Amino acid sequence: MIGSTLLAGAGLASTAYGASLVASTFSGPLYSLTFNNNQLANAGQSSGCGTTPGWLEYYADSKELYCFDESWSGKGVMTKYSVGTNAKLSQSATASTSGNDVHGQLYGGANNRSFIASAQYSPSTITTYKLPLSGSAQQIQKETFSMSGKGPNSRQDKPHPHEVALDPTKNFIVVPDLGADVIRVFRIDHSTGKLTSCSTAQHEKGAGPRHIKFWKSDAGVQVAYTVNELGNSVSAWSVAYSNNCLNLARTQTLTSIPPGKRAGTGTKAAEVRLFGNFLYAANRADGGFSSTQDSIAIYTINPTSGALTWLDAGNSYSHYPRTFEINKDGTLVAIGGQTSSNVAIVERDVATGKLGKLVSTIQLGSKGRAGEEDGLSAVVWID
Ligand SMILES: *[C@@H]1O[C@H](CO)[C@@H](O)[C@H](O)[C@H]1NC(C)=O
Repeated sequence: MIGSTLLAGAGLASTAYGASLVASTFSGPLYSLTFNNNQLANAGQSSGCGTTPGWLEYYADSKELYCFDESWSGKGVMTKYSVGTNAKLSQSATASTSGNDVHGQLYGGANNRSFIASAQYSPSTITTYKLPLSGSAQQIQKETFSMSGKGPNSRQDKPHPHEVALDPTKNFIVVPDLGADVIRVFRIDHSTGKLTSCSTAQHEKGAGPRHIKFWKSDAGVQVAYTVNELGNSVSAWSVAYSNNCLNLARTQTLTSIPPGKRAGTGTKAAEVRLFGNFLYAANRADGGFSSTQDSIAIYTINPTSGALTWLDAGNSYSHYPRTFEINKDGTLVAIGGQTSSNVAIVERDVATGKLGKLVSTIQLGSKGRAGEEDGLSAVVWID
């Protein structure tokens, strides 16, 4: 399966569909990929995101890509690239960090892109810098989290912020904390970039929230969804704006493991994505389809209430899918297998939301070892 494969008769609506992608690997290289005539191809490698590139954030309107280094050595970088034809990367700026960034993004100011925030897993911190990114970028804030006792899961020794998500108003940064089983909310001061804690939502013990996404019904009902890495589940949260803050309250938690399967000790839900009234959650090492092919859990979102209902499990065509993204049209999903170190392009049915056949797959660099921080880390569409 691994290698650049074209499967005949994949039956895509548009065989002329052309796009490119960027994938990062924990061993250092970033890969530019093309996807033409239903086939992935390696269009070149780039360096510059330190020793352990872990997260990519792409801004399509300005064709800028930010990469965050998960380096565990006490220092790292965040690097900005401009993205050209065939996803060719040109490094435009880099800044040094204290390392261990697991996620980051731009926020605040008149353009919503005047500052950059990132989350550091082991130091239990989030940090912010003023843009533009440069070698002399100064940290403007560091928030260090604490908790009163250990959580029920052995990985909950201390707080582990895993994401700095923006809410839809772009006035708040929302931080799922895997160690402390809370979702921390910060109000943004748009003139200074300063973040002020304004609410903390309690999760179930042992859930281990990792990432969050926001949804809105046609009538304006707002719901947030978390993927919970330690509990192998997804949760729905009501969203209310009051007291100059965003307040979350959990309404639902559903397993991400397909019916008839059970999470093993190494199973770790990783990523959540929305497309219309469908929610997708990646299961790392659930063995949903084979010992090296894990599943993507699929749910329908009730269009009025935002409530989740299990729909199906789709094959990720990868081992340990850490990262995935749906293309703009909703017709394809790019899935990044961490241990298989591959990008798989899988069909998505726009009407039913279900995932279909493998269209193409490509292995990048060396395969990882099960459960280790190696292999592929992130993939984004440049479409
Ligand atoms: C900043 O984001 C908010 C929320 O999406 C939007 O209403 C506003 O227009 C944005 N500002 C700019 C300059 O894009």
